[in-house]
Amino acid sequence: MLTIAQITDLHVTTGHDPLNQLRNEQRLRQVLRSIEDLKPKPVAIIASGDLTEHGEAQEYAELKTILGETDIPIYYAVGNHDRRDTFMDAFEGPGAQRDENGFIQYVVDFDGVRMVVCDTLEEGKHGAGFCENRAAWLAATLDAEPDTPTIVVLHHPPILSGVRWMDPKPDAPWIAQLADVVRDRPQIRVMLCGHVHRAFHGLLAGQVVATAPATSIQVTLNLTAVDMQKPDGREILVDEPPGYVLVMADEGLVTTHICVAGDFAPAVAYTRPFGFE
Ligand SMILES: [Fe+2]
Ligand SMILES: [Fe+2]
Repeated sequence: MLTIAQITDLHVTTGHDPLNQLRNEQRLRQVLRSIEDLKPKPVAIIASGDLTEHGEAQEYAELKTILGETDIPIYYAVGNHDRRDTFMDAFEGPGAQRDENGFIQYVVDFDGVRMVVCDTLEEGKHGAGFCENRAAWLAATLDAEPDTPTIVVLHHPPILSGVRWMDPKPDAPWIAQLADVVRDRPQIRVMLCGHVHRAFHGLLAGQVVATAPATSIQVTLNLTAVDMQKPDGREILVDEPPGYVLVMADEGLVTTHICVAGDFAPAVAYTRPFGFE
């Protein structure tokens, strides 16, 4: 059995945004502590995008310092708040690789499990892109090992959360493009996403899509209609605790746990036999 932790939407920033800086760094450190305390310790962390708030070099430097506090190997995907070139200047290595078209897409081989990291960033846009080139890379990559259990990672979820101001249009071309690639590929066990700052699950072309809560602030769960041009004063972000996902892979079975990060007191200890098998 092996475990991999997914962290997402770190939104690390610098001193010119002091409130976000302090909050997001504290929360990220809390998540890292929680992951470090897990038994067994995960073999890797995947950080699935929105690593920084503005995609600036100084923010990536700050991020590198914080993540340097753990010795668990970290792999990265980019999100809409990131900038590819600036990110790669700081992080190029096994956890940050470009495909032949310059997108940050690569494969990591764990013991019996493949992780395929995809790039849905359209620089300067909030929403996703997954063009023909990216789709062709993913198709070829999946074709290369059709029998190995595979985890696909991408920042933007290709399903609807119901939080309307965060959701893509259901008929967005990038979703159709991605659906065409993942359909009828039974080696895919789960598609891990971030971006919405909430945990939810759904299906795309028969594949399970699972999003992780943010390490930074969470999005308020309000599923009512919203006019994107008319602010109505609703709460859109909420100070719920930071979270992460723990992916468990065991002989081809893959399970995701949604985890809340924090220092919690133990409730009951195992001191007597359970009395059931
Ligand atoms: Fe985000
Ligand atoms: Fe995002």
